[in-house]
Amino acid sequence: MADNQNEDSAPPHADYLLDRPIQPVRGMRQGLPNYGDPHFALFLRKVFIKALGYSEDALGRPIIGIVNTFSGFNPCHANVPQLIDAAKRGVQLHGGLAIDFPTISVHESFSSPTSMFLRNLMSMDTEEMIKAQPVDACIVIGGCDKTVPAQLMGGISANKPVLPLITGPMMPGSFQGERIGACTDCRNNWAAYRGGNLEIEDIAALNEELAPTAGTCGVMGTASTMACVTAALGMIPLRGGATAPAVSSARLRIAEQTGANAVAAALAKRTPQEILSEASFHNALTVLQAIGGSTNGIVHILAIANRHPAVHGKITLDLLDDIGRQTPLLVDLKPSGNNYMTDLHNAGGMPALFERLRPLLKLDAVTITGQTLGEALDAENFRPFPLSSQIIRPLDNPLYPASSLVVLRGNLAPDGAVIKASASKYRNLLNHRGKAVVFAGPQNLANRIDDPNLEVDADSVLVLQGIGPIGFLNPGMPEAGLIPIPRKLAAKGVGDMLRLSDGRMSGTAGGSIVLHISPEAALPESVLGIVQTGDYIVCDVEKRLLSLEVSDDEIQRRIADRKQRLDGTKESRGPADRRRQPTRGYRGLYERCVTQAQDGVDFDFLAADGARVVGKFGQP
Ligand code: FES
Repeated sequence: MADNQNEDSAPPHADYLLDRPIQPVRGMRQGLPNYGDPHFALFLRKVFIKALGYSEDALGRPIIGIVNTFSGFNPCHANVPQLIDAAKRGVQLHGGLAIDFPTISVHESFSSPTSMFLRNLMSMDTEEMIKAQPVDACIVIGGCDKTVPAQLMGGISANKPVLPLITGPMMPGSFQGERIGACTDCRNNWAAYRGGNLEIEDIAALNEELAPTAGTCGVMGTASTMACVTAALGMIPLRGGATAPAVSSARLRIAEQTGANAVAAALAKRTPQEILSEASFHNALTVLQAIGGSTNGIVHILAIANRHPAVHGKITLDLLDDIGRQTPLLVDLKPSGNNYMTDLHNAGGMPALFERLRPLLKLDAVTITGQTLGEALDAENFRPFPLSSQIIRPLDNPLYPASSLVVLRGNLAPDGAVIKASASKYRNLLNHRGKAVVFAGPQNLANRIDDPNLEVDADSVLVLQGIGPIGFLNPGMPEAGLIPIPRKLAAKGVGDMLRLSDGRMSGTAGGSIVLHISPEAALPESVLGIVQTGDYIVCDVEKRLLSLEVSDDEIQRRIADRKQRLDGTKESRGPADRRRQPTRGYRGLYERCVTQAQDGVDFDFLAADGARVVGKFGQP
C-alpha cells in the first residue's frame, strides 16, 4: 500500500481512510458516485461489493467486466454462460478479477419491430454501463447480428479497453443427406415451398434441422460477417476468434485467451480509440469484400467508424466501392458460395484468409494485443493445405473477380444504394432495364404480391418503398429487401428478379437485390418515394448506376405534389403519404435522431461529432 499516507494507522487496504484525495486511477476507485465525499463513496462501494463475498485482495486487482448477453430469447447466445466461465478463468489466471454484468441482448427473430431498431439502444446500454461501472477493461460477449456492432459502437464511445468475445457459429444440420444451415437454406427452402416445389412434410422436417445447435447462423450472414470484420479490425484473436464453432472446445479456449488479453489490455490501458485507425477500417472493408459479406456489414462498419473521433467521416460508401474494385471474393461460403462457417474454420479461418489477402491489407494496423496485424500474421505462420485452398481461393482464382459488394448511385439513389453482386442468381439482371411494379410498404406488398391479377413478368423491377431507417409505418429498416418472387412467376420457375428497396436484407439471402436506397422513401425529398408502377428503371452494376427514367422536371413535380399530401394540403393516396405524428419513448428518440444508411443508421448525437447536435441547453 505504497500510496497510503496513514500506513501506520489505517488497516491494510482500507483506502477509504486515507487522508489524501482518492486518485480515480483504476479498479474500485474509478467512477465513484458523487456524494460530495469521495472517501465515503469508496467506503460505501466496498460495503456493498463485499456483500458478494469479495476480499480486499481480490478487489485490489485489475477489474475486468464481462458483459453477459445471455437471454432465453437468444439461441445465438446460448453458450454465453460457458464463455463467461472460461473468460473468468483467463482473467483470474492472469491476476485480474472478473465481474460479469448484464446488458440487453438482441436476437433477429425476437425483436419487434426489428433488431436494427434496438441496435442503437444496445450500444447505448453497453457504452453507459462500461463507463458507469468500475471496470479497467471489459469483455463484451456478442454474436447475433446486431450485438457485435452494438458492442463495438458502444465500446469505442466508452473508450475503456474493450475486448469482443464472439459466441461463434452453429454447426450445420442435415436433411435427407444434405448439409443445411440457417439461414440461407431457410430462405431457399421456403422459396421452394412457396413455388410448390417442396412438400409440407419436408418443410416441417427442415424446420427441425436448420438450426441444430447453439450459435450464430452458420453461413456468411451478418453475424459471421461481423465476426470476420471484428478480426480484421484486430479486436479478437486471429486464430479461431471469428470462426471457432459455438459448441467447440476451441471456442472456450478463445474465451480463456480473451480473459488473459483483457488483463494485459487493462494494464496497458489499450483502448479502442487508440487501437483503431483508418488502416483498421481499410482492412475491415477489404475483408468484407473478400468474404462476400453481408450488406448489413456496410451499415454497421459505417456506424462503428463514425463513433471514432479520428476516423469519423473518413469511411464512406465510395471507399467501400474503391476497395471492392481491388478485392476479389475468395471465401466460398453460402450465400455467395456453397459452404458453411465450420468449413471456413477447418480451412484455417482468418489466418488463412489474411495470408491470402496480405498484399491488400494494411499490415501496420494495431491489434488488441499491441502487435500489428502483420506481426500477428507472421506469428501464425499459416501454410495452405488442400481444404484451405478449396474454401479460401487464391487471389488468381477467385470465386468472383472483384466488387462483391457494389455501391450504386443515380437520380434514384443520390446518396447511394448497395447491391451484393456476387449473390445475384441471374447475372444478366446486373445490367437490366425494366418496368417498375411498386409496393407502398410491407403490408401493401403482402396484400398484392401473390395476386393472380398483378401485372408483372420476369423482366419487371419490383420496388418496395417505406422500409428504410424511419419507414412509412414502422421504423427499424427491416430485412424485407428480399421481396418474394410473385407466386405465379415462382411457379413457372422464375428464381430471381431485380428488386429495389430502402430496406436491408439478411446476409444469408441472395438474389439481384438493391438495398439501402438513400434518401429513403419516408423522407419528403426522396425520389424512391415518388416512383410509380410503369416507370422504367435502369440498374447497371458495371457503371454503378441506378436510374429512374423520368425527367428531372417530372421528378420535381411529383416530389412537390407529394410534399403537399404529406403536409395535409392535398389528399393522401396511401401509406407513402402518411403524415408523421410525434411519438413518445425510445421510438420517438429513434425517429427524431436516426441517420440514413450511408451514415450507419446510428443516432446523430451518438456519433463522434454528436455534440454538434443542438440540444435543449446547448448550441451546436
Ligand atoms: Fe442470430 Fe442469425 S439469428 S445470427
